[in-house]
Amino acid sequence: MSIATIILAAGQGSRMKSDIPKVLHKIASAPMLWHTMQSAAQIEADKTIVVVGHGGTETSDAAHEFNADAKIVWQKEQNGTGHAVMQAKDELEGFDGDVIVLYGDTPFVRPETLQKMLAARAQSAVVVLGFEAANPGGYGRLQMDGDSLEAIIEAKDCTSEQLQITLCNSGVICAPADLLFSLLDEVGRDNANGEVYLTDIIEIARARDLPCTTITCSESETMGVNSRQNLAEAEAAFQQSARIETMENGVTLSAPETVHFAFDTHIGRDTIVEPNVFFGLGVTIETGATIRAFSHLEGCHVARECIVGPYARLRPGAELDLGAKVGNFVEIKSAQIEAGAKVNHLSYVGDARIGAGSNIGAGTIFCNYDGVNKHHTEIGERVFIGSNSALVAPVSIADDGFVATGSVVTSDVPEGALAIARARLVIKPGLGKRMMDRLKAAKVAKK
Ligand code: UD1
Ligand code: MG
Repeated sequence: MSIATIILAAGQGSRMKSDIPKVLHKIASAPMLWHTMQSAAQIEADKTIVVVGHGGTETSDAAHEFNADAKIVWQKEQNGTGHAVMQAKDELEGFDGDVIVLYGDTPFVRPETLQKMLAARAQSAVVVLGFEAANPGGYGRLQMDGDSLEAIIEAKDCTSEQLQITLCNSGVICAPADLLFSLLDEVGRDNANGEVYLTDIIEIARARDLPCTTITCSESETMGVNSRQNLAEAEAAFQQSARIETMENGVTLSAPETVHFAFDTHIGRDTIVEPNVFFGLGVTIETGATIRAFSHLEGCHVARECIVGPYARLRPGAELDLGAKVGNFVEIKSAQIEAGAKVNHLSYVGDARIGAGSNIGAGTIFCNYDGVNKHHTEIGERVFIGSNSALVAPVSIADDGFVATGSVVTSDVPEGALAIARARLVIKPGLGKRMMDRLKAAKVAKK
């Protein structure tokens, strides 16, 4: 059976009070929209259609960044959820399969739940995802007759009796494509908002004697984001479940509540993550590594047995091979640190390769930028760079090279050579004490 998803993402999200489209606000460092698209990807949808409107260009760019094959359809005026779904009709012309309608601002619906809905389609023409709401408030209410869903009534259109119903509409709906559009063709605008409600298809389906039903999930899955406060709650919910999942995968988090994960963080078993570590997008850590406290990582790969931090920063393109060490106040960007190499203190390493077993001394700076272009630094194996050196790229230091402390290296260093670039030390016997005595005497004379 083919599956298509239609993701509604055209709404303005006025309660966010933002110039950014609501679905592009980030949860776990990724646009909210990506979370919904991920669920669609995990059920292997053959087609993903994103309905855009407010901020549609940015929204479609973000959709394509996640899935280059996503189809974009525009909803120029936001005339309701049913109207939004109708915009996908042409895109699904002749599509023979089930459609699942998802919301861009309801990011946490699990793929397992969508699978349950698809399975329930065997007995029912239309399947709606519902949940028991602690505070039903403005949610549409699901009117059931046993297992049969008879109608969805928007809160604004409910009688006081219907408002007592706590089984609510998540908005997620599954139906065959041709049926969905044929039901939508009959939906009017006779409601409190004067909009085309997707929810009205249930009553129309029931009038045609088609079976409709509800699959339920926990309220945490259907959590919607309408305000900055909701956004913070959604972030907290994501982090909470990411922490549990990471520990279940065999990773030690010594203070889980202080570790912040991204949408796509991967950490291998027996890795230890100390308190206050931040993972941005695109981090992969293999097994048995240690990420020490207060480190910040994004777009990087850390191999087995590496030690990172405390207070390390790995930026995009940082590649640490087996057992490499990156210590405190070290920043690494677009650089490969090969097996067993060490950059332990106070350094900047950008646009470089550091060969296996090399040691980069405290305070070494890779000067990769000339104000216009970035340049590469190549360091061979078993190289020793003395503390407080500056390596001015493009430059290379071949295997077994040695750079003396405090050198500014502006040309290539051959294999096994010593490079030293600093003024020669001069010793003047007794002068230190004589100078100090003179200064003290001058200060007393002034008073
Ligand atoms: C909708 C449901 C309600 C359900 C609730 C769950 C309808 C009529 N009501 O109400 O039963 O309990 O969601 O959160 O479906 N959108 C568009 N174009 C539009 C209108 C909306 O793309 O013209 C998108 C929004 O961006 C949003 C989603 O559809 O992602 C839901 O729209 P929203 O206005 O929030 O619907 P609710 O009133 O919350
Ligand atoms: Mg809503």
